[in-house]
Amino acid sequence: MTDHAILSGKRVLLVIAGGIAAYKSLELIRRLRERGVAVRAVLTAAAARFVTPLSVQALTEDTVYQDMWSLTDESEMGHIRLSREADLVVVAPATANLLARMAAGMADDLAATVLLATDTPVLVAPAMNVRMWTHAATRANMALLERRGVRRIGPNEGAMACNEFGPGRMAEPMEIVDAIAAFFAGEARKPLAGRRAIVTSGPTHEPIDPVRYIANRSSGKQGHAIAAALAALGAEVTLVSGPTQLPDPPGCTVRRIETAREMLAACEAALPADIAVCAAAVADWRVAGESDRKLKKDGGGPPALELTENPDILATLSRPGGRRPALVVGFAAETGDVLAYATAKRARKGCDWIVANDVSPGTGTFGGNDNTVHLIRASGVDSWPTMGKDAVAARLAEAVAGHFEGK
Ligand code: C5P
Repeated sequence: MTDHAILSGKRVLLVIAGGIAAYKSLELIRRLRERGVAVRAVLTAAAARFVTPLSVQALTEDTVYQDMWSLTDESEMGHIRLSREADLVVVAPATANLLARMAAGMADDLAATVLLATDTPVLVAPAMNVRMWTHAATRANMALLERRGVRRIGPNEGAMACNEFGPGRMAEPMEIVDAIAAFFAGEARKPLAGRRAIVTSGPTHEPIDPVRYIANRSSGKQGHAIAAALAALGAEVTLVSGPTQLPDPPGCTVRRIETAREMLAACEAALPADIAVCAAAVADWRVAGESDRKLKKDGGGPPALELTENPDILATLSRPGGRRPALVVGFAAETGDVLAYATAKRARKGCDWIVANDVSPGTGTFGGNDNTVHLIRASGVDSWPTMGKDAVAARLAEAVAGHFEGK
């Protein structure tokens, strides 16, 4: 479907907050109107200092809402109806201040009240000075909002109106239009609705003693992105995650664990499921007989750690039997001979698909945002170009949906 077909007839409530990027919101309204979107705008008091309500009104061809206490607006529309009579609420620009007020659940002006009252999905396009964006307070507010299901586009990195450089520029109007179209395209298509999925992600921590553990460098980015992508296609996702720095992906039930044995138990508790994707970097070994006291340097030289094998979660979930998910997908991170090792791994583990990638030093895969993967199925190998981990996740989720649709 073209953007126009997806967007035509949709109703967007555009909340414009007070930042210099508000000028781009005028362009955004134009591009949405061209595609047949009905746009209704709410301006904060600060926004009205950057763009005039008259411009916004002329472009939306609708009343502009600014005042909580306007008798006419409240009697004609009311802030509750205003928020509910939209298919999507878009906040652009989303300033640090408005994000903070949203995170805190404040209702101190019309924009914040509408955002608190709405049960409509919300997309924010943050725009602010780079230091404000990277400040711990904004990071925490944004992470909290994303956990609650708020979608985000941008900010982009680049030169800013305040003469600084870095992340903080509002996404370009057409990027926001594309994100809005992607939202509506996703809404229309839920090919995994009614399917249950288990996704493992992140590293495991295997204790040596009460303060030390064995771990690995997995960031969890790929696994978390897969959980979000499956949920976006309608699956009911349980994400079983080792310790990571990442926010919970929207729309997923998250089970946090530390050890491989806890990960296996959480996966088994999430059965039955139609789909299992094991993207976690599970420690192969744990310390046999971990100490319940901190090991001391007592002059006797370094302690010998005896290791014992951890359960293989992927192999366990792949075992034939009544509770085996219909589609089990494993990962193979290799550092050479990727296809040969990964193909052998598929057979050894008994899973249906393997997503293989090269994690040699220099590829930047571990902890990075990009991934170059090969999808290995019974039918053969599909090598995908290098792309962002979110894009890999979206493509994998589409392949999973295609599998169940019999494509
Ligand atoms: O054997 P290897 O660790 O290379 O296999 C990687 C795949 O197996 C990944 O999908 C990983 O999530 C899964 N795995 C697992 N439990 C383990 C070890 C690996 O689920 N104990």
